[in-house]
Amino acid sequence: MSNQEDLFKNLISHSKEYGFIFQSSEIYDGLSAVYDYGQNGVLLKNNIRNYWWQSMVQLNENIVGIDAAIFMHPTTWKASGHVDAFSDPLIDNKDSKKRYRADVLIEEHVAKIEAKIDKEVEKAAKRFEGFDEKMFRSTNARVLEYQNKIDEINERFKKALNENDLTEVRQIIIDCDIVCAVSGSKNWTDVRQFNLMFSTQLGSVAGDSDTIYLRPETAQGIFVNFLNVQKTGRMKIPFGIAQTGKAFRNEIVARQFIFRMREFEQMEMQFFIRPGTQKEWYENWKQIRLKWHNALGIDANKKRFHDHIKLAHYADAACDIEFEFPFGFKELEGIHSRTDFDLRNHEQFSGKKQQYFDPELNQSYTPYVIETSIGLDRMFLAIMASSLKEEKLEDGSERVVLSLPAALAPIKVAVFPLMGKDGMPEKAMEIMNILKFDYNCWYEEKDNIGKRYRRQDAIGTPYCITVDQQSLEDNTVTIRDRDTMKQDRVSIDKIPSIIEEKVSMKSLLKKLG
Ligand code: GAP
Repeated sequence: MSNQEDLFKNLISHSKEYGFIFQSSEIYDGLSAVYDYGQNGVLLKNNIRNYWWQSMVQLNENIVGIDAAIFMHPTTWKASGHVDAFSDPLIDNKDSKKRYRADVLIEEHVAKIEAKIDKEVEKAAKRFEGFDEKMFRSTNARVLEYQNKIDEINERFKKALNENDLTEVRQIIIDCDIVCAVSGSKNWTDVRQFNLMFSTQLGSVAGDSDTIYLRPETAQGIFVNFLNVQKTGRMKIPFGIAQTGKAFRNEIVARQFIFRMREFEQMEMQFFIRPGTQKEWYENWKQIRLKWHNALGIDANKKRFHDHIKLAHYADAACDIEFEFPFGFKELEGIHSRTDFDLRNHEQFSGKKQQYFDPELNQSYTPYVIETSIGLDRMFLAIMASSLKEEKLEDGSERVVLSLPAALAPIKVAVFPLMGKDGMPEKAMEIMNILKFDYNCWYEEKDNIGKRYRRQDAIGTPYCITVDQQSLEDNTVTIRDRDTMKQDRVSIDKIPSIIEEKVSMKSLLKKLG
């Protein structure tokens, strides 16, 4: 098993063991690709959502928030294109009966060839001193052969997707000799499109009921409220509407823990702009969003932009911010230039004008839209993956530490009386009563102090405060830093300002300028 696979397995079991994530309905053997957040998970998730919400709505005077319903009029999804075009190409293996996403099979095949190139580069780098990687990649015969193969597959695949040619997609799978991971055979069915929306019935009488959908994205709740918000908020273009909330997709292959779920949460912002300014705003929002990610202090090498090969039905430009998960670089957030596609279609399907009168230009137009869309659960996974560490300590022992960005940690401060007697618990409770109005705090008397510190390290608590005999004499306590494990003795009245500086959401938001 590779290190990364080990890391991912550890992450999943750590998430369960420490109350971050549980399988949904676990006592009934779970429900595939649906998860529940536990007592620590819900706090971390709320903090990530707050960081996003405050960075959008609180820090920008021209962005406001809404909370639209999950159920929407079914015509919404006709107008948005989801009824006709929100599908994935699926293919079954006739021997194993296992179902795959055809596009994922091809992408994984390409990734395997890329890995072969990386291996050649790695081998050569070890052999030659002063190794010139760029030169090697452009001249080595084997690397060039692999690269040509990749280019050829990508070219065919891109063309097939753009022309919606599913026979050609199947042919690429066959030509690449892709086999089913279970049966090992190439006995593939035709490729067909599978709509990802969940449907249900509205109303209690079967005959009278109407098919409605669980929203597959939160964005449409923003589009249909565009004029409500613009008029009641007297918003002037450019302006944005932000929303967080659940979305539902009947994913064909749902795996990799909370990376691809059937019920998940999105944080989306639609930024309404003048037609013709979309390129500039698209670039702006790419940089703003990257800054939001970088402010968390996560290794910059673990993030990269990836331009879309196939544009969604609504976009004239689109990219992802990818994160290096334990299973490779994958989409974390999408930034899309959605043109006027959605508002124009809602105008057509509803018969209601969706235009904005621009007083500076003295004319009406359908605004263009730049969208930023990030999965809250995926962000949660990215943060957990980059924070979970096993450390070897100087004395030879090991510790597991979750070095979460302090402002996002579920518990900010743990307060421990060194012993459960002699007035120490009462003093510790005094400190709890000062801090609990601003932060989630944890109080604990059980076990020796070392064990208590380790438990807090494992859930990412940035500070542990210990009340000891000296505290009763001079009103000082020790404060232990999670990352350095250094303990300082400080006066109790200094604690609120020390904590505030390091762990408050304000300190994180200030990095965004
Ligand atoms: N409104 C545009 C939109 O929904 P998307 O790229 O399909 O675009 C946006 O989704 C984000 O939602 C993704 O970048 C990802 O973080 C998250 N997401 C999408 N499908 C998901 C799933 N099945 N499970 C978890 N997160 C998902």
